[in-house]
Amino acid sequence: MALPQGFIEELHEKNDIVEIVSSHVELKRFGRLYRALCPFHSEKTASFTVYPDTQSFYCFGCGVGGDVITFVMKQENFDYMAAVRFLSERVGLLIPDDDGEDESHRRRKIYDANKKAARFFYSSLNSDEGRGARGYLRKRGLADSTIKRFGIGYAPSGWRNLYEAMLSQGLNEEVLFYSGLCGKGKKGPYDIFRNRIIFPIIDLSGNVAGFGGRSMGEGAKYINTSETSVFRKRRNLYALNIARKSSERSMILVEGYMDVISLHQEGLDNAIATLGTAITPEQARIISKYSDEVVLAYDTDGAGKSATNKAIAVFRKIGMPTRIPDLSGSKDPDEFIKEYGAESFKIRISKSGSSIDYELSKARENNPVELDSGVAFLREATAIISSSDLKAEREIYAGKLSEEFNVDKNTIMTMIERAGRKRYKRNSEEVVFKASDIKKRFDFSSSMKMQLGSVASEQRLISLFFLNPDLVKEYGKELEENFFKSKYVSEIYEELKKSVESGSFFGIGSLSGKISEDAMNMLTKSISEPELINFSREDVEFYIERIRTLNNKLDFTDVIEMDSNELRDHLESKRNEVKEGNE
Ligand code: UTP
Ligand code: MN
Repeated sequence: MALPQGFIEELHEKNDIVEIVSSHVELKRFGRLYRALCPFHSEKTASFTVYPDTQSFYCFGCGVGGDVITFVMKQENFDYMAAVRFLSERVGLLIPDDDGEDESHRRRKIYDANKKAARFFYSSLNSDEGRGARGYLRKRGLADSTIKRFGIGYAPSGWRNLYEAMLSQGLNEEVLFYSGLCGKGKKGPYDIFRNRIIFPIIDLSGNVAGFGGRSMGEGAKYINTSETSVFRKRRNLYALNIARKSSERSMILVEGYMDVISLHQEGLDNAIATLGTAITPEQARIISKYSDEVVLAYDTDGAGKSATNKAIAVFRKIGMPTRIPDLSGSKDPDEFIKEYGAESFKIRISKSGSSIDYELSKARENNPVELDSGVAFLREATAIISSSDLKAEREIYAGKLSEEFNVDKNTIMTMIERAGRKRYKRNSEEVVFKASDIKKRFDFSSSMKMQLGSVASEQRLISLFFLNPDLVKEYGKELEENFFKSKYVSEIYEELKKSVESGSFFGIGSLSGKISEDAMNMLTKSISEPELINFSREDVEFYIERIRTLNNKLDFTDVIEMDSNELRDHLESKRNEVKEGNE
């Protein structure tokens, strides 16, 4: 539902960002801004910054930023409308009704349908039709109490079991479609889940957000409810509703539903899983709210290993420590715990090393020290160690390597610090890279620089526009179509222009909910630069000219924004292509 801009503006006026943030973290004043320890990632120095002037926040540690609505969304794990509702109630504002059904009404109906569906699946499991599924679960070692605790059910074979049952309970057809429980086919409505074991996915408020279903016959082994307004795969986590109440201060992240359930049954009530997708930064942040450390216990196959590497990177970005237990010999945690029991599992965890140990042992495998006296390994090892932001930790590892290779510890520390500076430089640049059309003899360095220059100029310009919306009116007309090449900047520009032209622009809150999370992060970072305050008309013209010049020089037919890791891989592969082409 589209909320009137006037209402959104009033909501921002009444909910001062400093006030809201300070009810969650302790803010310290520094001149015109406030700093605090970031509530969204763990850190020891305050890099979370609140700007009363722009009513925005930005964390220089984890790169998250936004307005007061964004803050509440992240803090409470709300979607946009829930955050708006929360802030409205706080100051006694009424959310204007647009005609018909509003978003919150629809959500309530989805929750209601899901709850009824969950009951239907649960009772089907315990009916005659569920005999086979019951036998299967028993064979997999699930106790009745476990089945009950997780509300596991069964969707019978046949096309309309759930459909009929729900209609007879008085639900209307529409809600079954938009809750993702039923589909509309040529031959009429049909159940999405058929002949499947059903795992309800419960959100943090105790509502059934969606379902996972494991096939007992044909079709994909697992399917999930499609994305709905209450079910977001990139956000929800299986069993987090239980695990967050665990007395453990860590969480065990596993791949599948069955892994989670087995671990819980054996008393490890801090196990959770993503829903068939790689862990997202958003999920990582949610996990970090409820725990201090994550145990990565993915499957031991190749896919599990590469998922582990990705997860290490995601958690490292938000400063969350990970450990990786060695479960080799078993296919996954479910199998491990059945074979060796919970005690062994716990021992493996307590013996497990940090992500750095894990990566060092991989580096050792990749660079056998017998072959080249260890230099290649040392180079990779120091790069790995440099990812630790604890000096003491870096020193400990340096000490170990120094002993092992009989190299002076200071030499190793120097290598580590140098690798760290390199990494920092890489990560602090948002990079736009042209992927297609790379000629054999492409000159990376100069082209890269140009592209970086172009993105930086675009970011500057959009920030000046944002802070001085009259400039949008003044210069907007002379900018050609697709003037901005950065995905985020052009996204911001489109919304900014709309808002300014309709006369409703009032600041950061005018864009929140309208631009993507990444664009919001970029913008809040960019407008926080102090140099922006003293700008002149010449600056604006300078940036416009510069972007125009670079646009003419570069062919941006297929611009892709990559994060630094992707870019590194990409560059690597392109360099190899160039090498091969030259040979
Ligand atoms: P696995 O195939 O490893 O699941 O997939 P599992 O739990 O070991 O399977 P069983 O039931 O014990 O044989 C791990 C997770 O990946 C997702 C599901 O979330 C699953 O729990 N997945 C897997 C899918 O989404 N689709 C698939 O086809 C397979
Ligand atoms: Mn598995």
